[in-house]
Amino acid sequence: MCGIVGYIGKRDVAPLLLEGLQRLEYRGYDSAGVVITGPKATGLKMVKAKGRVRDLEARVPKRFAGTTGIAHTRWATHGAPSDENAHPHLDAENKVAVVHNGIIDNAAELRAKLIADGVTFLSETDTEVLTHLVARSTAEKLEDRVREALRHIEGTYGIAVLHADFNDRIVVARNGSPVVLGIGEKEMFVASDVAALVSHTRQVVTLDDGEMATIKADDYRTYTTEGSRTSAEPTTVEWEAESYDMGGHDTYMHKEIFEQADAVDRVLRGRIDDRFSTVHLGGLNLDAHDARKVRRVKILGCGTSYHAGMIGAQMIEELARIPADAEPASEFRYRNAVVDPDTLYVAVSQSGETYDVLAAVQELKRKGARVFGIVNVVGSAIAREADAGVYVHAGPEVCVVSTKCFTNTTVAFALLALHLGRIRDLSVSDGKRIIAGLRRLPAQIEQMLEREDEIKKLAQEFAEAKSMLFIGRVRGYPVAREASLKLKEVSYIHAEAYPASELKHGPLALIEPALPTVAIVPDDDLLEKNRAALEEIKARSGRILAVAHREQEKADHTIVVPKNEDELDPILMGIPLQLLAYHTALALGRDIDKPRNLAKSVTVE
Ligand code: M6R
Repeated sequence: MCGIVGYIGKRDVAPLLLEGLQRLEYRGYDSAGVVITGPKATGLKMVKAKGRVRDLEARVPKRFAGTTGIAHTRWATHGAPSDENAHPHLDAENKVAVVHNGIIDNAAELRAKLIADGVTFLSETDTEVLTHLVARSTAEKLEDRVREALRHIEGTYGIAVLHADFNDRIVVARNGSPVVLGIGEKEMFVASDVAALVSHTRQVVTLDDGEMATIKADDYRTYTTEGSRTSAEPTTVEWEAESYDMGGHDTYMHKEIFEQADAVDRVLRGRIDDRFSTVHLGGLNLDAHDARKVRRVKILGCGTSYHAGMIGAQMIEELARIPADAEPASEFRYRNAVVDPDTLYVAVSQSGETYDVLAAVQELKRKGARVFGIVNVVGSAIAREADAGVYVHAGPEVCVVSTKCFTNTTVAFALLALHLGRIRDLSVSDGKRIIAGLRRLPAQIEQMLEREDEIKKLAQEFAEAKSMLFIGRVRGYPVAREASLKLKEVSYIHAEAYPASELKHGPLALIEPALPTVAIVPDDDLLEKNRAALEEIKARSGRILAVAHREQEKADHTIVVPKNEDELDPILMGIPLQLLAYHTALALGRDIDKPRNLAKSVTVE
């Protein structure tokens, strides 16, 4: 969702900020803006535009020099996408500029008070309230003016503030929305996401909630919103700038699908312990004694991460024989769930920023639960909030539609299930069998991706469908759900996923030649049951695409997937369906990396 980038140094700031905004485009936005100043500049110069960063760039005048600035990509919450509602927001005297990610819950009330005091608002946004509050403060230092303004605010924010009278600094603050400082050589950056920084520096400081910072060209200071100094030490970002490039592919989605063999290799690296046929998960901090006390595992995530969690729950039950289930974090957080001390709660998130997941984690911790994170983005809010966890090491995922991260998360769950299983009753030989299966995954993924042309041809056919049905049974059901989500997100074709076992309890009524069914048919103990479902669909003239380990006679087409161990099969079976969604969307001319109405990180409710 919204993105922030800022710079203070000696370089021409506008091109730097525009490049930073481009790197944040993947998060989803509807308008953008930039404001600059500098030691020689008088006052603030601002340009805003509804639409893409390239629309903003087209409006930037030739003479737009400065060495300090902040910029923003906005995802509308308060007020429609428009030039006026785009950030930054200035006060009446054009002295204070604010960019903001998050939501100010009491904005309406504050706005009414400010209007009663004679303030004129130029936008419908909640953020403008903050600008006027900073402008009205008479404190001596900019930091104190911002602090005073924040005292009135209820809600979430990541902000950057520029002031014409204090043009040697940018003041930033965080509460529930990420803010990262990037440390350069006599220059400093600020952003809401390291993606905007890594082409300039990999030395970063991530602010905590309740923390503020002042950045100057050659210095930074961090402190709490109450004013006490904090010691935020820089860390090195492991992702390189090149990982954010398209690397010869036409879209990030395509690139990320094809990165999966390497990504899986990374999540496995250094974690397998052949001696005891188990794995080491350093970040887990759960000794065997405590692991044996776990009586239940509850997995929470949203969207694709929730589906990865469903697969994870299945693996934990099968390998560790611990009852486990997954639930959308967005539902869990609102149902006043009973929190059980013997349950291990696992929060799953690619971005580590999803608000619904973060809120669920905070609620769980408030109730005394122990929460693990399975997260991709190192140092993200959920990773920091969780008591311990496992990084999935998928590398940056830029496409809004998640692919490689889904796969790596399912592998991370397999590692967790194996770890818990080997502490309990999973035998050495079963441990060995799973490890061998995990090691086969990268090569099997490569093998499957070689079938792209076959899947592309099928996608051309499916692009004509108005709706599609995805079915699977037990291990196959979460695969069907994820494949259905992938298709609808990226191609906008309506798709529904159902347990194959439920067909005759209703969905069979839908079957007709115009409704293609994609069936997940693993070669496991349920093969014959799945075949029976194919028979039922065929008998009603339904068209069937099977994803299976061998040709399915009743299907019109079978995508044959390499067989792994039964428990690990779901990891591989979704991959051809990512390609199917991709090529269907391509055939329909969709905006693949930025599907309509969606954002990469859903940082608001
Ligand atoms: O970053 P997260 O994994 O927490 O994101 C959760 C969902 O918003 C995300 O998986 C969403 O469903 C994607 N667009 C899936 O492709």
